[in-house]
Parts: sequence; structure tokens; C-alpha cells
Amino acid sequence: MFHSIGKKIVLLDEVDSTNNFAAKLLLEGKLVPGTVIMADHQTEGRGQRTAVWVSDAGENMLFSVIFEHDNMAVANQFQLSQMIALSIVHFLRKIGIPAKIKWPNDVLVNKKKIAGVLIENQLAGGLVRSSVVGIGINANQLQFEITTATSIRKELDEFKPIQELLYQFIGSFNELTEKIHSQEELQSNYLQELFGYKEILQYEDDQGEFAGEIIDVAADGRLIVLKNGVAVKYDLKEISLLLV
Ligand code: BTN
Repeated sequence: MFHSIGKKIVLLDEVDSTNNFAAKLLLEGKLVPGTVIMADHQTEGRGQRTAVWVSDAGENMLFSVIFEHDNMAVANQFQLSQMIALSIVHFLRKIGIPAKIKWPNDVLVNKKKIAGVLIENQLAGGLVRSSVVGIGINANQLQFEITTATSIRKELDEFKPIQELLYQFIGSFNELTEKIHSQEELQSNYLQELFGYKEILQYEDDQGEFAGEIIDVAADGRLIVLKNGVAVKYDLKEISLLLV
């Protein structure tokens, strides 16, 4: 479903944001699809929904991957998000960390966030032509300003060189993309790794807190939660999982 990544790797000491750097290269038409751009430090690292992504220099995996799509309908763009979240979980599992996906594409370990993803798509004529997939995985940082964050080093009590981790991630992604050939396979793998799937947990929507159960994720990426016996579809900002 997706091409392989990592035939070309660009390593930078410092950049505003690897996503911005990748987007510029894309505009200039200078890119090999699957190129990975990693930086030791970002001065303007960006998170989802206008948040900033702060990381100590040299400590974490901060990278972007460029995807070019032959024929991806805008309606199918969530598939890339699913594939990326899955590949992060597989990569972490391989190095001994039991991770889960927090819908839509955060990655958690013991309910703490270890990775986040920021995807920026370039659309034309009803199709997604290319995507810049920004991935931040906490690697060797030990101290965080928030208590709900963790890192590979915190989980394994072991330092791992960032570049080695990057090669392992690339390997995991490429393995997965060879294995998964259809939307159905992608969906079942994603649901299997989704935190809270078929479990009753506490959520909050615009009507307040409730006990709900994730029963599915729609093709457009909306989360389907059973609330008081009714299946309700939620967009990104409409529901939050209360991690207690
Ligand atoms: C999130 O808010 O969870 C998404 C975080 C994404 C951070 C990564 S780090 C590499 C890439 N460059 C950025 O500016 N952001 C993404």
C-alpha cells in the first residue's frame, strides 16, 4: 500500500522543523520518495493542533519521512496515519517496549506518551499527492516537564544511539509495508494495537464524562465509541480519553 522508506537519509544538526525542511525539498522537487530527514535539534518543532514539540538537543528521534502517492483518494488519507502508528508500535515492541496506539496516532507505553505524529498532506485534484510525516519518538531523554511522558531509555533503563534506533524504525516500517497489502489488513492490525479497543474506559465529550467502549474506527478516521448502548462517531477534537 505504501512505498518503502529510508533509501536516502539526511541528517541535520539543527533545523527549525524537519517537517518544514521536508516540505521545502518537496516544493523544489528534489526528493527521492521515502527520504528520511532527521535532526538532532529543532528550534520550532511542531506538534498537533498548533502545539509545540519540545525536545532536548540530541536526545530524541525527530524526523520526517516523505511519501509520494500514486493514487490516494483524500478520503483514504487516514490509512497513512494508521500505518505510521502501527510501525512505531512494531518498532518499539521489537526493542522490548510494549506500546499501544492512542487514537488516532499517538503511541503510549503504560499510559504515558512516547511518540507523536504530525502528518501534512499535499492535495491536488481530489488526491493526496504527497505527505510529510513528522515523527517524534522520545529516546534518551530522562526528564520531562509533564508526568505523562516517557522515553525508550526510561522504559528500558538503557541508552541507545539515535541513528541505530532510526535504522530499526525504518526496518520495521519496511517490513510492515511488505506484509500489509489491503485496507482490511491494515484496519485489523490497527484495531489490535489500539489502546481501549473493546474495553470500557472513561472518556469525555461535550456532554461530560462517560464510560465508553471503542468498537471501531471509521475509514475517515473517526473513532466509534459505544456510549450508553449507542455507537457515536467522534472527530479528533470531540472526545478525549481520560487516562487515570
Ligand atoms: C504530536 O503533537 O504528538 C506530534 C508531534 C510530532 C513531532 C515531530 S518531531 C519531527 C517532526 N518535526 C516537527 O516539527 N514535528 C514532527
